[in-house]
Amino acid sequence: SHVPGECVSATSEDQARKVLPKAVYDSTAPAPTSTHSARHVDAFNSLVLCTVVSLPRVLRNVSSVDTSLTVLGQRLSMPVCVASTAMQRMAHADGELATARACRAAGTAMMLSSWATSSIEEVSEAGGGGSGVLWMQLYIYKDRELSLSLVRRAEQAGYQAIFLTVDTPYLGRRWDDVRNRFKLPSHLSMSNFSAPSLSFSEGSYGADSGLAVYVSKAIDPSLSWDDVLWLKRNTHLPVILKGILSAEDARQAVDCGVDGILVSNHGARQLDGVPATLDVLCEVVQAVAGRCDVFLDGGVRRGTDVLKALALGAKAVFIGRPVLWGLACQGEEGVVELLNLFKDELRLAMALAGCRSLSEVSTALVRRRDDFSR
Ligand code: FNR
Repeated sequence: SHVPGECVSATSEDQARKVLPKAVYDSTAPAPTSTHSARHVDAFNSLVLCTVVSLPRVLRNVSSVDTSLTVLGQRLSMPVCVASTAMQRMAHADGELATARACRAAGTAMMLSSWATSSIEEVSEAGGGGSGVLWMQLYIYKDRELSLSLVRRAEQAGYQAIFLTVDTPYLGRRWDDVRNRFKLPSHLSMSNFSAPSLSFSEGSYGADSGLAVYVSKAIDPSLSWDDVLWLKRNTHLPVILKGILSAEDARQAVDCGVDGILVSNHGARQLDGVPATLDVLCEVVQAVAGRCDVFLDGGVRRGTDVLKALALGAKAVFIGRPVLWGLACQGEEGVVELLNLFKDELRLAMALAGCRSLSEVSTALVRRRDDFSR
C-alpha cells in the first residue's frame, strides 16, 4: 500500500511492475519512444503553486473544504474521474467491474473503454445499475451500425455521456507492444463484441503489435468532423471529444455543438512528440471561451496536479494508468484507496491554497516557474 510522502501512484507503479507479466506492464507504459513522451508527466512539476497573490488566500477559514461538483449533469465527490483504459482484466481478474465498484464507492465517474474486457451491461450492473456514474468511451468502427449499437447499449444500460476518442485513426507505434507481439491472453476478449475479429481474440496477429493490426482492420481512419455531427444527431447523451490538443480543433468542436472537450494526448501513446496536455490547456480553454466544458488527462498523479489543472481552466481531470496500478496491486480495494488518496490530497491542497470550494480555484493560483526568474 501507499508509502506516506510518496506520490499517490509511484509506489503502486513499482508494485504493479512486479506483479504484472512484462508484456502487460509494457503495454501500459508511455510508448511511442518513451523518453520524450515521459515529459507529459513532468509538466505538472514545472508549475509551482503560488499562494501569494493579490487577494488573501490565507486566513480564509478552511475548516471545511468541499471538493464536490457537478460534471455533465452528474454530482461527483471530486473533479477526478477515471479515464478509459482498455482490457482491465489484464491488470486484475475483476477488471472493469472492480473499477466500477470503486468509482461508485468513491463517488466519482468511470469512463468505460469500448475495448473493455467486461461488457457495457456487466459494468453497469457492477456500478450499481444507475446509482454510480458511468460514461462510455467510443471508438468509431468501419461498421457504423456496430458503433451505433455500442451507443444504444450504453444508453440503455444507463451511461450518461459518450466520450468519442478522436486521436486514434491508427494506433501509435508502440515499440514494446511490437516487440512483445502484444495480444490478449487467450482467456480474455473485448467483451462488447462476439466475433473473434472484433473481440481481439484471433489466434495470430503476425509479428506486429496485435492491437495495431486490430485497429487497422476494424477502426475507421476516415473519421472526420461529419462523424461528430452524425454522432450528435444519433444520441441524446452529451458528446465529449477525447484527444483534442489544438485551439483550432477546439473551436471546430464547439461549432459542431459538442458538450465537452477532453484535452488528451492519449497518455502519450499516439503521435510522439506532442506537447504535454497541461501545456496546451490554456490555449484550448481560451478558444472554447466557456462554450463547453474542458477536461484534461495525462500525467495527473497527485492532488496538487488536480489543483493546477483546475486553476488553468479544466472542469475536471481523468486518471488512466494509476487506476491500472491500483487494480494490479489490490483490485477494487486498490482503486478505492487510490481514489480516496486523490480526494484527500486535493482537499488538503485546496485548504492550503485558501480554497473552500472549487469555485474559488482560479488562475491566480498558478505561475510558471519561468515567471519567477524574470
Ligand atoms: C489508454 N487510453 C485509452 N483511451 C481511449 O480512449 N480508449 C482506450 O481504450 C484506452 N486504453 C488505454 C489503455 C492504456 C493501458 C493506457 C495507459 C491508456 C488513454 C487513456 O484514456 C488516457 O487518455 C491516458 O491514460 C491518461 O494518461 P495517464 O493518466 O495514464 O497518464
